[in-house]
Amino acid sequence: MTTKTNALITGANKGIGLETARRLAAMGFKVWLGARDAERGEAAARALRNEGLDVEWLALDVASDDSVAAAARILTAQVSSLDVLVNNAGIAPGYVDALGDDGRYERPPSRENVEDMKAAFDVNVFGPVRVTQTLLPLLLAAPAARIVMVSSYLGSIARAAGNSPSPNVMGYGSSKTALNAVTVAFARELSPRGIMINAAAPGYTATDLNAHRGGRTVQQAAGVIVQLATLEAGGPTGGYFDENGPLPW
Ligand SMILES: NC(=O)c1ccc[n+]([C@@H]2O[C@H](COP(=O)([O-])OP(=O)(O)OC[C@H]3O[C@@H](n4cnc5c(N)ncnc54)[C@H](OP(=O)(O)O)[C@@H]3O)[C@@H](O)[C@H]2O)c1
Repeated sequence: MTTKTNALITGANKGIGLETARRLAAMGFKVWLGARDAERGEAAARALRNEGLDVEWLALDVASDDSVAAAARILTAQVSSLDVLVNNAGIAPGYVDALGDDGRYERPPSRENVEDMKAAFDVNVFGPVRVTQTLLPLLLAAPAARIVMVSSYLGSIARAAGNSPSPNVMGYGSSKTALNAVTVAFARELSPRGIMINAAAPGYTATDLNAHRGGRTVQQAAGVIVQLATLEAGGPTGGYFDENGPLPW
């Protein structure tokens, strides 16, 4: 059993999740690096251990009830509580294929693929619900656990309907809108029980998700996630933030 403060990040074998794992481990957390693929997970954990960080990988496919249950069993055998959960794993099916040569998104809602939408919801919405529900006993065993839902500016209805609307990415965007709603719903139940849970918008970041078209670095993107994962006791809960503060839903 480890008595160190423990953090689990889903989908942490690359991209924003990997950088978040690096940052939290550098702050002194024991980091459990969730990955759905053993080779990728082990390689990522090894790379961070080579930097002197306390990181182990955990087999975790957020789209599978069995995988999430197995991960919870493994974690429960090794830690008595979970201080931080970052629901980071995410996909944007069809997004890259719909980018034009100039990098603009070119698939309007009238041509959205419903199977792609279902896949996005399974990972981006039901994944965090599954993982949060299953790990709740460990989270409640921590003095004041923090949960971060990695959302997106594209989840904001206010931005989509505003004067300078974000790209009209219906499937992925609505999955993040649903994730925002899930964040608020969990906050209503869990904040009175001492858990702080917030949604983060990391910004358009160069990762595999967008064929590295994003303009931000993973170091920049991880900033708001780390902020929300390490909030002072009594900090905000049930909110939606970027690195500069609260965002409109
Ligand atoms: N990049 C951006 O511009 C941007 C902007 C706003 C929000 N976000 C959000 O940030 C988060 C991280 O994205 P990223 O940009 O870092 O993308 P990424 O580099 O593609 O990383 C996504 C991670 O999620 C994992 N993943 C996918 N499906 C999974 C599943 N079923 N179970 C477990 N892990 C799974 C991937 O694992 P594999 O390697 O096995 O595929 C990978 O580790 C996502 O939630 C994304 O929506 C990204």
